[in-house]
Amino acid sequence: MATPHIAAEKGDFAPAVLMPGDPRRAERIANLLMPDARKVSDVRGIGAYTGTVDGKPLSVMASGMGMPSIGIYANELFGQYDVRRIIRVGTAGGLAHKVKVGDVVVALGAHTDSAMNTSRIPGIHFSAVASYPLVAAAVAAAGDATNVHVAPVVSRDHFYGNPAEQIQALADYGTLAVEMEASALYAIAAQYDREALAVLTISDHLLDHSRDMSAQEREENFERALGLAVAAAHC
Ligand code: HPA
Repeated sequence: MATPHIAAEKGDFAPAVLMPGDPRRAERIANLLMPDARKVSDVRGIGAYTGTVDGKPLSVMASGMGMPSIGIYANELFGQYDVRRIIRVGTAGGLAHKVKVGDVVVALGAHTDSAMNTSRIPGIHFSAVASYPLVAAAVAAAGDATNVHVAPVVSRDHFYGNPAEQIQALADYGTLAVEMEASALYAIAAQYDREALAVLTISDHLLDHSRDMSAQEREENFERALGLAVAAAHC
């Protein structure tokens, strides 16, 4: 069987899928975590890999960038491949002083400016929230680390052009980071009665660009977030 964007057989995906944005990072995660990883799809260069971590099945597949892209894959994985949980492992921009470059944010909920959720239930401002058991597992795996935050983020349609007043207002309401996928993922998981979480490494900061991470730092810091994501995947 195949869907418009995934060429895999039913059963090729594990119940839990880790989902970075970048296809090359998906391949690196698969190689890092799963010596037995096999590639199960490669449509549009979006490699999907399935193997085991400590004997438990896991898949890794990239989402691409933005809510329309992750929306396509989440719909097909939940709807056609019977995936039970998707854990986004990505990067985000810090937008409040209490979060620093290199910190990890477990996204409890995700505000959005995207019409994808504004139009979801007519007349309702949909609240896109993470699945509690996955949040709890990630938090437990973080132990007493001080640089792991559990807070709302904002998923925006634009990478460039963050209106300063909007960012300040979001920070005033306790929002810690900006990214581009979590809100749609959470809503689609709710739609299918499945589970989702986003574990985000802060790669740059809207209030201080001098400490933005290099590509290498991004990879190194990423591994910490990965540990929390695997704990959530297998809880
Ligand atoms: N904006 C949106 N997405 C991001 C950012 C950002 O500043 N940094 C990493 N992902």
